[in-house]
Order: sequence, then C-alpha cells, then structure tokens
Amino acid sequence: MKSKLVQLLRENQGFFLSGEKISIELNCSRTAVWKHVNALRKEGYVIEAVSNKGYQLMQNEDLLSKHAILSRVKDNPLFHHIAFYDSVTSTNTIAHKLINEDVKEGVVVVADEQTAGKGRLGRKWASPKRSAIAMSIILKPKLDFRQAPQLTLVAAVAVTRAVKIVTGLELEIKWPNDLLIKGKKVCGILTEMQADSDRIQSIIIGIGLNVNQQHFSEELVDLATSLQKEGDRVFDRAELIAAILKEFTWLYETYITKGFSFIKPLWEAHEITIGKEVVARSASNTKTGIAIGIDEEGVLLLQDDDQDVHRIYSADISF
Ligand code: BTN
Repeated sequence: MKSKLVQLLRENQGFFLSGEKISIELNCSRTAVWKHVNALRKEGYVIEAVSNKGYQLMQNEDLLSKHAILSRVKDNPLFHHIAFYDSVTSTNTIAHKLINEDVKEGVVVVADEQTAGKGRLGRKWASPKRSAIAMSIILKPKLDFRQAPQLTLVAAVAVTRAVKIVTGLELEIKWPNDLLIKGKKVCGILTEMQADSDRIQSIIIGIGLNVNQQHFSEELVDLATSLQKEGDRVFDRAELIAAILKEFTWLYETYITKGFSFIKPLWEAHEITIGKEVVARSASNTKTGIAIGIDEEGVLLLQDDDQDVHRIYSADISF
C-alpha cells in the first residue's frame, strides 16, 4: 500500500492530490491514507498536507527505501522480494544469511549504507549512506558451477544498459566485470556461489554502483568516479535499481533459455579490454600479453609474446 501511495504521489508531483482521490485509487479509507502518509514521513519523505487541497510530495531527494524501490519495480517476474536495510556490513553477507534460511530465487538485498562492503580479491568496497547503490541478487539457476562467471558478465551488461537508459552515460566494461567511465571505476560486481558437487545451489551477485558521491578519498580520487560526477546531476537510486533489475531479468532469462552466445555480443559491444596489451594478475601468477577475445564460456584469451594463448578464468586486469 505504501509503495502504491509513493508511486501515486510521485506521478502527481507538483500537484496536490485530494485524500478522497487517493482513497479511491488505493481502495482504502481516508484515515488509512493519513496513516500511510505519516508512515512515509517517518521514512524521510516530505509530504505537504493542506486542507481542501490534499497531499503533495515536496522534494525529489534521493531517498532510498523499500517503497521507493517497489513503487518502480512493477510486475517483475523474477524479483518479487526486496529485503531493504538502512545499514548493513555487506549486502552479500546478508544474502548468505537469507540463503541459509532457505529463501527462494529472486530476493534482492538492498542497503542504503554498507559498513564493511566486500570487493573482489579480499578488497574493501565503500558504499556511503545516501549516495551509493549496494545490492545483492539471490539466484538459484540449474547450472554447472563452471558457468557461474558467465552470470557476472550478464550482470555487467545489465548494469551498463540500465545506466545508459536512466542517465544517458556510457559505461565501459573491463573484463570481467569492472565498469568504468573514462577509465575510472564506477561499479564493481562480486559474485559468490554455493555449489554442491558440480551444480550451483545458489549464487549471489553483489553490485556496488557509485551514484551520487561527490568526493572520493585521496587514495581513490584518480581511480574511482560516480554517475553524479560524470553526469553533473543527482540520480535517483531507486530508479537505477529498478532499471538494473529489469535489464537483468530479460538478460538472465535469455541466458538460461538460449545460452551465453546470446549475451556475448552484448558484452562485447561495451567492452574495452580486447585488442589491448594487458597484465592479468591472479592469486597464483601474473601473465602479460594481448587480450584477443573471450571464448564461448566468457573466459579471457590472452596471447603472450610466444603466440601461446592462455585461458584466464579469474584475474585483475591492468592495461
Ligand atoms: C569489486 O571489487 O570490483 C567488486 C565490488 C562489489 C561491491 C558490492 S556492493 C554490494 C555487494 N556487497 C558487498 O559487500 N560487495 C558487493
């Protein structure tokens, strides 16, 4: 009910909507409308109430809440449940807990802030309050565990397309899943999997997107950027989350029904790694060579000076 009220007020932003009209639209009493308005105010929404006129949503600040997200995620066949938190250590950690409680596929954990966000290769990931997106998608695909990295590429394509749709900004994908703008990182994806023998039991796709950060620490300022810095305006995180989920849904369904060969060209359309001389560092070794492509499994093909082609399954790439 609250999500519908947010949607209604947002659709009529700039106008007053009478309590009677809202009660008819939402099929509830005017007292119920008043109660829901007050509940939304406690969440931070500024809703003006004027007698004989009704209610009006006053600001369009980037408030993130379960209702803000749900009011934009309409009839999504895959993502049916948003587990929203104001502050968590890591949304991936919460997703692990939910999996242990046996949640179904399609739950999305979203937090306004992470206090101990996890990056790839044991690094930290900062998701400051009121400015970033930290979300973890829980999936249970019937796939071989060797296919898990392909889902990370699916997610990279989904975020790239969603950002373009909402903001007009073009992201570049650095294999496998670093999303950059003009060479600076704007989004990272951390995929964690639980497998039983060789089948995936569940998979968590953690997405960290820098949306409205205006400043980065000295350590990060040359390496990281945000959508706001690049687009010169504040972006609505709930709208971005809904767009990411929408894009991910059809890409995931295409991937499951038709295979990775349908995703590969979409990934290639945004990638910036192929054709470059790269250094691929993994926990066990470092290889240098030309990135000549990805194969049908999403594995990076790296050709060294002796023309030997190495298959890189997981690594940190630098140019
Ligand atoms: C990377 O190192 O590039 C991956 C960063 C992934 C960060 C996201 S934020 C949401 C989810 N929760 C986490 O703790 N990490 C991922």
